Amino acid sequence: MFQHVEFYPGDPILSLVETYLNDPRAEKVNLGIGIYFDENGKLPVLASVRRAEIERAAEAQPRPYLPMEGLAEYRSAVQNLLFGTDNPALADKRIATIQTLGGSGALKIGADFLHRWFPQAQAYVSDPTWDNHKSIFEGAGIQTGTYPYYNPENGSVKFEEMLTFFLGLPENSILILHPCCHNPTGVDLSRAQWDAVLEIIQTRKLIPFMDIAYQGFGDDLDSDAYAIRKAAALGLPLFVSNSFSKNLSLYGERVGGLSVVCPNAEEAELVFGQLKLGVRRVYSSPPAHGGYITARVMNDEALCRQWESEVYAMRDRIRLMRQKLYDVLTAKIPNRDFRYFITQRGMFSYTGLSPAQVQRLQDEFAVYLVASGRMCVAGLNEGNIDYVADAFAEVLR
Ligand code: LMR
Repeated sequence: MFQHVEFYPGDPILSLVETYLNDPRAEKVNLGIGIYFDENGKLPVLASVRRAEIERAAEAQPRPYLPMEGLAEYRSAVQNLLFGTDNPALADKRIATIQTLGGSGALKIGADFLHRWFPQAQAYVSDPTWDNHKSIFEGAGIQTGTYPYYNPENGSVKFEEMLTFFLGLPENSILILHPCCHNPTGVDLSRAQWDAVLEIIQTRKLIPFMDIAYQGFGDDLDSDAYAIRKAAALGLPLFVSNSFSKNLSLYGERVGGLSVVCPNAEEAELVFGQLKLGVRRVYSSPPAHGGYITARVMNDEALCRQWESEVYAMRDRIRLMRQKLYDVLTAKIPNRDFRYFITQRGMFSYTGLSPAQVQRLQDEFAVYLVASGRMCVAGLNEGNIDYVADAFAEVLR
C-alpha cells in the first residue's frame, strides 16, 4: 500500500537534536538548533513571561477557540513591535495581521496566499538560508531559487552580485529576506545596503517577504526592524513573518504572526479575509495560551519593560560568548583571523568549518553544529566555552 512513499531522511536541524539527545557522553554541547540557553545551559523561563502566566492562571478562564485570525490584542502587539506604534501605515489601517502557528505557520500561510493570488510568481531565498524557507515555499507550490548572499571568501555579503540579480528579476518575484540576525550566517546588511535593496524592490516591483525571528538579538528591538519600517514608509507591499519563539523563550507555544502591508485599507481588508481563509483551511485557528501570554507581556507597560531588559540580557550574553570565543581561539591559533565571531550578529555564527570538521567535532568531542558549519552561539556558556574552543582548535589545526 505505502511502498511508493518516499523515505524522509529527516530535517538537518531537528534530526541533529535527536542525535544530540541520544548521545550518552557527559561533555556533549548542543550548538545546533537555534535555541537560546542561559549561562547554566538551561532553557530560560523569562520573568516577564512567568508573571504573565501566573496572572493568567489566576483568572482561570474558559478556553473557546480563538478566531481564525487570532487574538485582537496579540495582533496589535505584533504590529506595534514590528512597525512602531506611531507608524502611519497602522493609523491608515493598511496592515493585515494574523496570529500564526509560529514563524513557520506565518511563512506557510503567506506562501499559500502568494501562490493563490500571484500564481506565476517565483520565490528567491538567500544563498544560504534557513532550510525550511525553501521547503515551505516549495511545499506551497512556488518554484523557489536562490539569490547571491554570503561570500565565504571574506565572510561578507556579495552585495553587488545580489543587487544585479535582483535587477534582473521579473515583476512580482518574491524575495525572502532576513531583516536582522541572518540565519545561518549572522551576516546582516547595513542600513545603506537595505536602502539600496528596497529601492530596487520598489523600481522592479518585487515582493519583499521579511522573516524576523530574532528581533532584539541584533542591535535593539527598534533598530532590528529598520528594513521593515523603511519598506512600510516607502509604501511597498510587504509580507512580514515574525516569531516570538526566541525572544520570549516560548518555542513550544508556537507564537508567531503574519503581517501584510497593503497600499490602502480596502486592500488590507481583502487580504485579511484571504489570510483567515488560509488559516481555516490548514488549522482553523491558532493556539490560545501563548497568544494570551505574549499579548499580556507586550501590552502591559511594566511587563513589557521587564521583557525588553530580558531580551537585551540574552543579546549581551551572546555577544560576550562571541568575544570570549574570539579571544580564546585567537590566542590558540594566532595566524588565523577569527574576527567574524565578533562581527556576526544574533544567535548564529557561520564558523567556516567544513562538513568534515563539523563531523569530527561531533564524533570526537560531542560538540554539535549544523553540517553547514552554523553554530548557535547561545549554546555556549562559561562552563563549556573553553572545551568548545579546544575542540575547534583541534579540528582547525
Ligand atoms: C533554527 O534555525 O535552528 C531554528 O529556527 C529552529 C528550527 O526550527 O529550525
